[in-house]
Amino acid sequence: MTVEKDLQQEVKRRRTFAIISHPDAGKTTLTEKLLLYGGAIHLAGAVRAKSNQKNTTSDWMEIEKQRGISISSSVLQFEYQGHQINLLDTPGHKDFSEDTYRTLIAADAAVMLIDAAKGVEPQTRKLFEVCRMRGIPIFTFMNKLDRPSREPLDLLDELEKVLGIRSCPMTWPIGTGDRFRGVYDRRDGEVLMFQTEGEANVKGRLAPIRLAGIDDPEMRRICGGPREDEYEANEILTQFKNEIELVDLAGDEFDLDAVLAGELTPVFFGSAMNNFGVQRFLERFIEIAPTPSARKSNGTEIQPTDPRFSGFIFKIQANMDPSHRDRVAFMRVCSGKFTRNMEVKHARLNKNVKLSKPLQFFAQERVIIEEAWPGDIVGLLDTSGELRIGDTLCEGGRFEYEGVPRFSPEHFAGVLIKDPMKRKQLTKGLDQLSEEGVVQIYRQRGLGDKDPILGAVGGLQFEVLQHRLKAEYSVDVKIERLPYVHARWVTGEGLDPGFFERREDSRYLEDRDGMPVILFKSEWALRWAQDNYKTLKFHSTAPMVRA
Ligand code: G4P
Repeated sequence: MTVEKDLQQEVKRRRTFAIISHPDAGKTTLTEKLLLYGGAIHLAGAVRAKSNQKNTTSDWMEIEKQRGISISSSVLQFEYQGHQINLLDTPGHKDFSEDTYRTLIAADAAVMLIDAAKGVEPQTRKLFEVCRMRGIPIFTFMNKLDRPSREPLDLLDELEKVLGIRSCPMTWPIGTGDRFRGVYDRRDGEVLMFQTEGEANVKGRLAPIRLAGIDDPEMRRICGGPREDEYEANEILTQFKNEIELVDLAGDEFDLDAVLAGELTPVFFGSAMNNFGVQRFLERFIEIAPTPSARKSNGTEIQPTDPRFSGFIFKIQANMDPSHRDRVAFMRVCSGKFTRNMEVKHARLNKNVKLSKPLQFFAQERVIIEEAWPGDIVGLLDTSGELRIGDTLCEGGRFEYEGVPRFSPEHFAGVLIKDPMKRKQLTKGLDQLSEEGVVQIYRQRGLGDKDPILGAVGGLQFEVLQHRLKAEYSVDVKIERLPYVHARWVTGEGLDPGFFERREDSRYLEDRDGMPVILFKSEWALRWAQDNYKTLKFHSTAPMVRA
């Protein structure tokens, strides 16, 4: 009885999310500030170390070192006001990879961080698509308002036009750049006055100012700023009033159901670097964001409060500890209570396994944990290599969660082996590393395992593959990049492989499950195929086919 009560309480207080953004929008900075609220100051320092190390390198171990917390920690866990926050770390920057997408499968919500001077950028768009596919709620934080920014209305318009999502501003900026005065909280009718973090550290944070309405004379004083400039006060106030009237009149109203369905994004404005607007955001986020959600399995939907433990593997990381060659499978707990040493069913292999070394990672340290709850991420040391991405572990019966999809790569390459005698090791290495999700492997018709084509979401994945083939399988390879930019899994009637093989701008291949995949050299080539083959469907993700 008490376990069930605990379970309900633990589920209720958990929020598991990821931040999606384009490089340089301020993800590291925002993460650091969020951690400060959780009191995890030692971790915040470790996050910062990462942002100073943005060069790529072909050395896997070096990559590991450079990425610091990004690689040795899959989740940052902290408490805030009685809530347990699990912030999933999505590899970004130049190490953008399929893992970044997969991590979103384990999240219950996403925070889309946008540089207000730049608006929606390509990487944000790609990550947004994955969130959309899952239908998870998306919160937006418009960052860097302390710098010259685009018009806020313009930014909202872009969310709708480019991403196709409606928005509801929760706060609204008063001026931007060097005229940034603060943000107005539309629900509470309060103004948070802008201060840099330095000022706030010296003088303390200014208390929010409650207004009687936007016509409150106090507003003019706020707009005048520290120099009490009449001219600026007028300009800022006029613009603010015009905008807020428009937003009140023509904007979307806050609708919790639409937010939870991923159809409406609550928008916040602030400056992560100045730790401004971050706390208000975090408080509202906790209020609105969902608790761990029910997940679809091949039987029914499994509720997180189902007392039987279950979870699935969404990411595999090898070589986390350079002193042993180990492999850690990251599991998202979906239901029930997880305890160390519990015996669970490995659904794909239909066998029982004992989870004796559940791990959690803190900067460079790993700690064995005793228990975890739905929404939590647990690292499992997988010495026997039995865990794969998409695997379900469960208690009491056997079922499988919907697979983790494979995402369309955008980088392609051939592999040239330096010593032909090592072909067998190469095939084995490629098979195992693709199972881990390092790259995807496609075969050419009629060639079997010979001359496979590799696909990756991020180019750095090839360097990791090359390094690991050498270190772990003693195979030296040369990676030869190919000029394709899109891959689509194809279903439907009337597919003629020969046709796509003969064309110069596309290529017909098969994935490891024998499903047809066509590579295209340009957006144009892909569109041409879509327009001319109406009976075929071109998919940008492939569901995992279970063994
Ligand atoms: P990322 O992880 O998304 O790539 O971004 P990161 O946090 O590293 O931030 C990218 C740059 O943007 C950093 O500057 C950071 O200080 C700056 N930045 C983040 N938030 C804000 C903000 O609210 N306002 C302003 N003006 N700048 C912001 P950098 O010069 O590249 O690095 P650093 O020397 O500051 O560490």
